[in-house]
Amino acid sequence: MFSRSTLKAAAQSSRHSAFASSILFSGKAPRVSLLPDGRRSISMYGYTQAKALVYSKYGEPKDVLRLHKHSISAPHGTQVNLRLLTAPMNPADVNQIQGPAAVGGNEGAFEVISTGAGVKNLSKGDWVIMKRTGQGTWRTHAQLDESQLIRIEDKEGLTPLQVGTVSVNPVTAYRMIRDFCQWDMMRTGEEWLIQNGANSGVGRAAIQLGREWGIKTLNVIRQRNSPEETDAMKQELKDLGATAVVTEEELLSGGFRDMVKEITRQGREPIRLALNCVGGKNATALAKTLAPDSHMVTYGAMSKQPVALPSGLLIFKNLAFDGFWVSRWGDKNPQLKENTIKDVLQLTRAGRFKDIPVDDVKWNWNTEGPVLAESVQGTLGGFRSGKGVFTFTGGDE
Ligand SMILES: NC(=O)c1ccc[n+]([C@@H]2O[C@H](COP(=O)([O-])OP(=O)(O)OC[C@H]3O[C@@H](n4cnc5c(N)ncnc54)[C@H](OP(=O)(O)O)[C@@H]3O)[C@@H](O)[C@H]2O)c1
Repeated sequence: MFSRSTLKAAAQSSRHSAFASSILFSGKAPRVSLLPDGRRSISMYGYTQAKALVYSKYGEPKDVLRLHKHSISAPHGTQVNLRLLTAPMNPADVNQIQGPAAVGGNEGAFEVISTGAGVKNLSKGDWVIMKRTGQGTWRTHAQLDESQLIRIEDKEGLTPLQVGTVSVNPVTAYRMIRDFCQWDMMRTGEEWLIQNGANSGVGRAAIQLGREWGIKTLNVIRQRNSPEETDAMKQELKDLGATAVVTEEELLSGGFRDMVKEITRQGREPIRLALNCVGGKNATALAKTLAPDSHMVTYGAMSKQPVALPSGLLIFKNLAFDGFWVSRWGDKNPQLKENTIKDVLQLTRAGRFKDIPVDDVKWNWNTEGPVLAESVQGTLGGFRSGKGVFTFTGGDE
């Protein structure tokens, strides 16, 4: 989210930042010269025309998101001007649509289009992602200080989608698996994690990282509209490296205990970590499968139901229940976040970390705000074929 304080800071950091001031104070945008096709975005004064999908009050995306047109000055000092390549629409982005004027979106891949004289580590054509979440990525162009950006090394082996979706979901999965469980290195391939929302971006990342690190995964998905579709989804996750995939119905059924016993060799292979992004009965059922002294990490609440835990799990099994929020973690551990991103991108280059299925929303200079807002609204429904992703196709030179 692009908070008011961030915008103020951006405005203060550059007296020339027409972008921040135009959003904050509705100042008159400088004159710009357009090409006949309306796509030209740089004027004779060096201003870049930009559009951002902003919101200024709580509400449904379709009601509160609007397309804000503004101008970005030529970069000064250590500033860098960027052009959007790809930015996803994550559930967390939709949850955040609240508060004062802000640009939506928390991650995305941007291309450097120009740099200020004081910029040391970036040059035109580089691909970058934002160091922190909350800076607003649903915008065609941006002006940020180079200190706020991570340069993508060796971009040749990568796509904008891979770069634009790496910093939230894969990092979340990676840190939850690494930081909440002391995996026994002597038992590689004999320990398990269980997770719900297994077909989500985070879930798919957890499956693939588990496969890489020798951790078996027991994955829960929601039943699809037909048995064939459910089987296809199960197979899709198995192809990614899932050890076992079950439906929520199976998880909540009386026979699940026996099913778990069977796949974990009568419990000799312990389930040591549960990743929960659903809540409600589903989360309780995950917790019940855990071996003593294990952890359950809650990082989402898709069912909007609270997590209810039988006291016995706390008393007799000494289970620990934690929460994880990647934005907060990343702000506290910026270097570790960068290293985690590099690790995932390395796996991606090596073909060992597959792209998420996407529902591509093309955003060109003339795309209307309501069309973009509707596509964000559309991400709220279940059983989607892929994650909504904005891909900016408008011109900028
Ligand atoms: N805490 C953090 O730092 C952090 C970071 C990243 C993501 N998250 C959270 O992680 C979750 C997944 O995010 P994502 O970006 O990976 O998601 P995504 O790829 O957009 O997928 C959404 C997932 O939520 C499931 N879902 C939707 N409504 C549901 C319901 N009512 N009950 C059960 N499952 C439901 C979907 O299952 P169907 O296919 O069956 O609809 C799908 O698996 C979200 O809750 C998000 O807020 C948290």
